[in-house]
Amino acid sequence: MAHLPKTELTELPQFLNRATQVALDYWNSLSVSPVAQLGLSQLPKTLPETLAAMGWGTAQTLEKFQREILPGLSASAGGRYWGFVTGGTTPAALVGDWLVTATDQNLMVPGDSIATALELATLDLLKQLFDLPVDQFAGSLTTGATAANLVNLATARQWGGHKLGQNIARDGLTDLDQFALFATTPHASQLKAQGILGFGQRHWTKVRGLPDANGQEGEAMDIEDLELQLKASSAPIKIVISSAGTVTTTAFDDFQAIARLCQIHHAWHHLDGAFGLFARCSSRYRHLTQGAELADSITVDCHKWLNVPYDCGVALTRHRDLLEETFAVGAAYLNTEDTLPSLMNRGIENSQRFRGLPIWFSLMAYGSEGVQAMVESCCGLARQLADWIAISAHYHLLLPAHLNVVLFAGQFTGDQVTVNRLNQALLSRINQTGKVFLSPGYYQGQFCFRAALSNWRTGEEDLAIAQTALEAAYQGIISDNLL
Ligand SMILES: Cc1ncc(COP(=O)(O)O)c(C=O)c1O
Repeated sequence: MAHLPKTELTELPQFLNRATQVALDYWNSLSVSPVAQLGLSQLPKTLPETLAAMGWGTAQTLEKFQREILPGLSASAGGRYWGFVTGGTTPAALVGDWLVTATDQNLMVPGDSIATALELATLDLLKQLFDLPVDQFAGSLTTGATAANLVNLATARQWGGHKLGQNIARDGLTDLDQFALFATTPHASQLKAQGILGFGQRHWTKVRGLPDANGQEGEAMDIEDLELQLKASSAPIKIVISSAGTVTTTAFDDFQAIARLCQIHHAWHHLDGAFGLFARCSSRYRHLTQGAELADSITVDCHKWLNVPYDCGVALTRHRDLLEETFAVGAAYLNTEDTLPSLMNRGIENSQRFRGLPIWFSLMAYGSEGVQAMVESCCGLARQLADWIAISAHYHLLLPAHLNVVLFAGQFTGDQVTVNRLNQALLSRINQTGKVFLSPGYYQGQFCFRAALSNWRTGEEDLAIAQTALEAAYQGIISDNLL
């Protein structure tokens, strides 16, 4: 094989056909493949560890991938990968995403193509999908919700700097004590953003949680406590971080009440709705997000419930000027005469892929009703799973499933340490069945399982398979005399 021979181009149709077949085989086997491949930390010995001077060429590399790597991948695009909050990929999104790669546009600055116009139009479509005032919010597409939280918090920091007469993006953060951040259950990515932006992961004030359905202190913000904390704080800059769908208990804050308090106390309201904002797509669940449209900044993740491939978060803010002041940097080669904004001035990356295209394909192909149906189907199936768990002899439901996440654990007796140990063993067994994949959580100190149903492919047949696997895993604990 020569270095990069011209034959690679003439053979491209064969490569693409072959790649399509490999992808289709993967998709068609999702319902029977092991959902997760646990503990595969070693690559097959047949793969070279050293970089060869002469490559294999695309055909042979694809063959190697198919034989040695593909069997080791999870079925996370399928209907029973319920770990984290994992959306799959719809056909329209897959086609859009492939064309992102094929066309290889750079969305850094406008002026050489229609791509920026489409990206901005896609952002407007998303605002319509989430029923947010199109003209009042501006933003950008990001690598994910973590990056969106970072972009939004950086903009909030810039807003705080303005109030202090400073330009923090330009001059740096000098007095951390001027800032107070309030939250009840911030996502880990929010803390990461705080660390990166110089606030520090630990520099935030905990607002008490409201009692949950079991009467325990829950993950939704107690507004009375927020009011007390805002009043008590002498920091001139206050930022309130709320959640639309916490990752463990799917708690939603009262956004209307938070907006009112933020107005009184001149605070910034950031709302992390990575997956929970999708509740707005359905009239059945929309009430959970009432008042979200009043937030100063919003994070949402299209690679979760919109089921577009990874690398697709959304950062939105009412403060476009501050957003652009935060991220704009000058360099002669980046100047453009175009009237459209440069997306590099609205986020972390300068060069960036055409993230809007898979979203645009999805929204064009399925419309708002398609998204609504996907959301309602996942929530309906989550409720069915919860109902089954509620009457199961071996599992118990920890909280009602009011969206797409089911929180549950095995039924064991003993002290908390024993019960947690048994549940950890049970979770390993469940995931080892290869029939379903769950991720862990803690509820009130109890180790538990989270099933987050966010994939358009999930159906009743998946519930039946998962239930059988859950039963088999519990029986395994019994037959191994672990009780
Ligand atoms: C509420 C919330 N925020 C942020 C994130 C981070 O998302 P990502 O992993 O896409 O960056 C998640 C992920 O589950 C989430 O649930």
